[in-house]
Order: sequence, then C-alpha cells, then structure tokens
Amino acid sequence: MRYFVTGTAGFIGFHLARLLLSRGASVVGYDGLTPYYDVSLKERRHAILSENPRFRPVIGLLEDAGRLRQAAGDAAPDVVIHLAAQAGVRYSLENPRAYIDSNLIGSFNLLEVVRELDVRHLIVASTSSVYGANAKIPFTETDGTDEPMTLYAASKKAVEAMAHAYSHLHDVPTTVVRFFTVYGPWGRPDMALFKFVSAALKGEAIDVYGEGRMERDFTYVDDLVEAMVRLADVVPVKGQPVVFDRGRDSLSPIAPFRIVNIGGGAPVGLLPFIDTIGRHLGVQLVRRMLPMQPGDVPRTFASPDLLAALTGYVPQTRVDTGVRAFIDWFREYQSGSEPVARSANASLRRPAARSLRKPKAPVSRPVGAVADIDAA
Ligand SMILES: NC(=O)c1ccc[n+]([C@@H]2O[C@H](COP(=O)([O-])OP(=O)(O)OC[C@H]3O[C@@H](n4cnc5c(N)ncnc54)[C@H](O)[C@@H]3O)[C@@H](O)[C@H]2O)c1
Repeated sequence: MRYFVTGTAGFIGFHLARLLLSRGASVVGYDGLTPYYDVSLKERRHAILSENPRFRPVIGLLEDAGRLRQAAGDAAPDVVIHLAAQAGVRYSLENPRAYIDSNLIGSFNLLEVVRELDVRHLIVASTSSVYGANAKIPFTETDGTDEPMTLYAASKKAVEAMAHAYSHLHDVPTTVVRFFTVYGPWGRPDMALFKFVSAALKGEAIDVYGEGRMERDFTYVDDLVEAMVRLADVVPVKGQPVVFDRGRDSLSPIAPFRIVNIGGGAPVGLLPFIDTIGRHLGVQLVRRMLPMQPGDVPRTFASPDLLAALTGYVPQTRVDTGVRAFIDWFREYQSGSEPVARSANASLRRPAARSLRKPKAPVSRPVGAVADIDAA
C-alpha cells in the first residue's frame, strides 16, 4: 500500500509513518517544517523515518498548491492521511492567521489535490476541541459541534465541513478522526506533559490552569496510530452504516463520509496527571494555581463505541504507563543520546519552504509559560 501523509515531521505523523513503514507500506511524507516549535525536533523525526528506504520526505507548505499537487501526484497513493495543521488551542488566541493559512487554505489545497487522484480512502485529522462547550458526556460523534470556543476549534470544524462537501461532490471516501489530548515520546514541546517534565527537571514551577479542576481523555500515541491504521482499512460506503448496540454510526446520509473519535473514554484529572509525573520523576512539582484561560474546556471525554464497532480496538494504555514512557524518552532526548540517524536526505538540509513563511512564533517558547493541556 502507498500512503501520502501530511505532517510526518510532526508528533503524530512521525509515529503514524513509523507504524505504516513497519507494516511494509510505502510513505511519502509532506511537511513544511513550520517554526511553531523547535524545528530540529521535526528534523530529527524525519531523519529517523528516512532510515527506511520506503519513506520519502517532501518539504513544502500546504499553501504551496503546485508543490503539494506534484508531491501527491508523484506518490500515486492508495490512501491519503492529512495531519499537517497549525495545532495548539492557546496559540490560536495569539496568532489566529496561522490557523486560517494552514488549516483552511492548506486543507482546501489538499482536498483539491485529492479529488483529482483516485484514492481508496482519505483520512483527515480533527480534534476533540470541536465539541467546545458540549456538556453531554461522553462526547459522541453525532453530538452537535456548533459552539467552538477557539479559532483552532472553528478552523477544524470548517475542515470537517469542507471534507464532507468534497466527499459528497467528488465521491471521495473520507474519515475524519477526532483526537483527544495525544501524548507520548517525541511529543510536542507546547503541550503540558513536555512543559511540566521540562520545568520539573529544572526545579521550576508549573502553571496549573482552572485550579487543576480540568479533565482530559489522554490518548497514548501508540494507541492512536494503531487505531488510525485499522481505520484506514474501514472505508466508508454511502448507505452502509455500521450497526452496533451502544450508539449510532456517524455515516453521512449523502456521502461516503464518517467522523470517528479516537479516545479511550477514560478522562483523567489534571491534578492526578501531575501527581503521576511527579511520582515517575521522584520530585514534587511546584504548582502555581491559576484560573481557567479563555478557550479552555473543563473536560474532554470520548465515546469510543464507534471506533470499537468499526475496528474492534479501543485505546488502552494507562496514563501511568504512558507518562513513564514519555519521561524515559525525554531524558534520553535531553541528554542527546537517543539514536538518531543522520542520513543524507533532503529533509536535513535547510528547506526552501522555510523561507516562504515568516516565523509565526519564537522557535523556543518559555517553559513554565502556558502549557497546552487542551486537545491540540
Ligand atoms: N497532539 C494532539 O493532542 C492533537 C489533538 C487533537 C488534534 N490533533 C491534530 O493532529 C494533527 C497532528 O498534530 P501533532 O500533534 O502531530 O502536531 P505537530 O505540530 O507536531 O505536527 C503538525 C505538522 O504539520 C506541519 N505543518 C503545519 N502547518 C503546515 C503547513 N501549512 N504546511 C505544511 N506543513 C505544515 C508542521 O511542520 C508539523 O510537523 C493536527 O492536525 C492536529 O490539529 C492533535
């Protein structure tokens, strides 16, 4: 199978491509190495993937429609997985335009390219943030998503809607996957786990928003990509919903399109999460209790029933195990001892694409500042 995956230098794209390669697939990875966070981390991920001859990186922005079309056309993929995006809930308050550029314009370009290709399945990443102020728990895919609380959530909701329209108009079998606070080795430096561990090891205080009274349905990254690979084989067919006891398929009545949560349905409180980190580090984290921030939601809670009905799989890894794995990786990464192949490939040279865009944020943002405990 041939895959065209956007965002392979990112946290989730890296793990997904690694799993696909380990199962014998070929992957063309398209990524603009945007400077939202430390670009060298992205380069290291691509360098590791490039050890496998079945991986080919292409450095380019989604906004560069010509380059994207060329790369996807050359890849002649069976399956396209669209992960590249401007992620981050809180950063969307600081730099909203980045979300319009990457998520709206970029995803539009991707959809235009995909409609010209004859792909078996298009998978598009979305987020639990689209549930916004939804008070009903657990969140099911057929719940309303009409109250986004940030531009990030609004942009992802728009991408879901655009993907539905293309699926309907051009008969592209499409699955939108909503992720719930993904964490694990090679994770994002803007997210809470990375920031908390980094701060704790330096003896710095961590900022705890909402006085710690938030809950998240944390999903370990290995579980997430396993679910995605399984879903890639479950191609939506118009008029053929899956029937299951505990809920109802989100399959569109007019398109080969469905939305699937990928989460375990086991939310964990922020304070127990912080305690777990402290226990594994052997330190007491110094907390600075702060009120809720604009755009924060008190709780995310996935219903995993549709995912289970489609794939027979539900994320299982306990936060205790996943946090331990992250800390082990983080220590190696910080010491520079984690194995990184420096293969001579295009992704390691300074990409032309970087000069296409002005930096959207300082490459290193201060530890102890806002940690993204939200969805993405
Ligand atoms: N990590 C989470 O908890 C989480 C939760 C919900 C949803 N998501 C979604 O999952 C996807 C992957 O997230 P991630 O955590 O791996 O983030 P990430 O920032 O690590 O990865 C995104 C990758 O996309 C690339 N990219 C961004 N804008 C681009 C553009 N305009 N053109 C080309 N490349 C571009 C970046 O360089 C980066 O390598 C995103 O769509 C995100 O919104 C993530």
